[in-house]
Amino acid sequence: MNDKYFIDKTKEILKSYHLTPDKNPPHLPKEEALKVLETIRELINYHDYRYYVLNQPVISDAEYDALYHFLKSIENVYPELITPDSPTQRVSSDISSHFEEVKHLAPMLSLDNTYNEEDLKDFDRRVKELSKEEYIEYCVEPKYDGAGISLLYENDLFVRGATRGDGEVGEDVTKNLKTIKTIPLKASFSKYDIKLVEIRGEVIIQKEDFKKINEERMQEGLSVYANPRNLAAGSIRLQDPKEVAKRPLQALVYQITYVEGNSSKTHYENIKMLHKLGFKTPFEYMKLCKSMDEVIEYCKYFESIRDTLPYEIDGMVIKVNGLSLYDKLGFTSHAPRWASAFKFKAKQATTIIQDVLFSVGRTGNITPVAKLEPVSLGGVTISSVSLFNEDFIREKDIHIKDTAVIERAGEVIPYVVSVVKEARPHDAKSIVFPTHCPSCGSKLVRTPGEAAWRCINISCPAQVVLRIKHYASKDAMDIKGLGDAVAQLLYDAKLVNNIADLYDLKIFDLVRLPRFAKKSAQNLIDAINTSKTKGLSRVLYGLGMRYVGLTTAKKLSLAFKDIWKISKASEEELMNIEDIGDVVARSIREFFDLEQNIEIIKRLEKAGVVLKEQEHIGKLQGIQFVFTGALSCCSREKAKEIVESFGANVSESISKHTSYLVVGQDPGSTKLRKANSIGIKTITEEEFLKMIE
Ligand code: IVH
Repeated sequence: MNDKYFIDKTKEILKSYHLTPDKNPPHLPKEEALKVLETIRELINYHDYRYYVLNQPVISDAEYDALYHFLKSIENVYPELITPDSPTQRVSSDISSHFEEVKHLAPMLSLDNTYNEEDLKDFDRRVKELSKEEYIEYCVEPKYDGAGISLLYENDLFVRGATRGDGEVGEDVTKNLKTIKTIPLKASFSKYDIKLVEIRGEVIIQKEDFKKINEERMQEGLSVYANPRNLAAGSIRLQDPKEVAKRPLQALVYQITYVEGNSSKTHYENIKMLHKLGFKTPFEYMKLCKSMDEVIEYCKYFESIRDTLPYEIDGMVIKVNGLSLYDKLGFTSHAPRWASAFKFKAKQATTIIQDVLFSVGRTGNITPVAKLEPVSLGGVTISSVSLFNEDFIREKDIHIKDTAVIERAGEVIPYVVSVVKEARPHDAKSIVFPTHCPSCGSKLVRTPGEAAWRCINISCPAQVVLRIKHYASKDAMDIKGLGDAVAQLLYDAKLVNNIADLYDLKIFDLVRLPRFAKKSAQNLIDAINTSKTKGLSRVLYGLGMRYVGLTTAKKLSLAFKDIWKISKASEEELMNIEDIGDVVARSIREFFDLEQNIEIIKRLEKAGVVLKEQEHIGKLQGIQFVFTGALSCCSREKAKEIVESFGANVSESISKHTSYLVVGQDPGSTKLRKANSIGIKTITEEEFLKMIE
């Protein structure tokens, strides 16, 4: 029987019996139970193998749970049908040959799962029946989704740490666990007359840390980890403790499984003690409940806030609080009868990739986005998911029409964990990455060593707003009043589709817009005009070429002195400049090789933007002149133009911002009087001409 058989059969059974983990499976008559029982066991064995041995699950955790739950429910009704080799009768193993084997003092058992209120009430009923108690107090705490561990403390020292292994025998990973800072190497158990204690807990990785690790791996072009649990489990079994120490692992402890010399009477007291001794525990989230209704309410509440926790939890654990009842209740072959896990709705699902579209980000990055057959994931419907970049698609071997396993961990965005290759239909299509921008059609580029394909067309509609904002920014053309919101407004009003359009703006275009009055419109037009003379290095920076920051722009400007010379320079010529390497040179060449970019630069030149290095630029930066009386050298307009080309500006009236009042022939008295009264320096036309030589 091949993979396809098992996958199809699984789907068929899930569908025909309407199995989901949060609903009770249907009751089957014995003959029918007999017929399907073997198939279900066979399927579970197959999925166990895929999950534990191959590390390649082909169904989601939720589907697996539903199947397992179905088997359990049949066996509960017909216990005589249980066979010793049924998957429900074994504790799975993860032993590898690299570590010493150690026997746990108390076997590391699993927990029985519950999925709904009814299951919890059944659990309550069973506990009361077996213990013959009418009233039971429960302790409810989060169920951490990590890698199980057991810790042994002798005479206050941490002496041994182990993985779960087959439940009886685990692997000695003491050296690795010692690197985890939340595991105290010494804890004062002797204060409580405890000589020897075995504690159970979980190694976890916080969601933020996990996200960061994956982001870094993605940037380095490495494959991403599926979830924090797998990464935690892999980490504690690494061969080199130094490598383990580099991982952001944390350990939480939640159960004392063996103790010599303690007198605690409740689980709550035990956890409080561990909390006081410096362990990370569920203490702050633990709730003592007097009834199953209270338990249910708390479980539901916690499910609603699960995403606010810094780490993953996949449910709640309900434990009988009184320790004296533990012995009375005992264990089944694989789980204690005094505890039960309430599982939250799964955050993994499988669905079909219907198509892949490509979107252009505001910075020109091309992102493939998979359109999915809508699927519910932890209460949210997911219909599309980012595939990040071309490497991600190739590594995961994603095809259109593939069945994909989707996961949404915490507030982390949903993503494709894997595709089920065995379920790939014959007409599945491989994903062809575009060579040209889906927004503007220009040729895409990809820098060696980078994951993303990018569109570098300066007038690409998808990037216009960000490009304009950058062009207008303080270090570039310093156009005051042209931030994100105004750039968006101008673009939405179809007034500006690229940076060259800025220089065609007229006052009457602006006053029609909601944000502009006459004065603010005039201010913006003035600021745009002033930007023309900011100089070559600022223009180069403002064009937003990848890797060309302010310093590189200045070096280019000084070396070539003219934008058209830069535009024709070869990569070798560019690399002759200090600090310009092959990646930067290539990026500059790619920018000028694109015809659309040259067109924009031509329009900037036509609009009067200075594209040559001018030594005097910036000499009078920040200075404000006011003129009074007639100038003999030239008209006021001409003087204004010259002044602005030096980086200074001209105002009509005297204010505290005025630097000089230039006094020509037959000056009026108003400006002179005002300048004198507030102490503004007055200069003659000759002095003024000297300043601008
Ligand atoms: S108590 C003997 N409490 O969930 C009973 N287990 O799916 C010991 N787990 O095998 C288990 N959080 O590895 C317990 N607060 C918690 C837990 C917890 C996570 C793990 C544990 C267990 C698995 C069962």
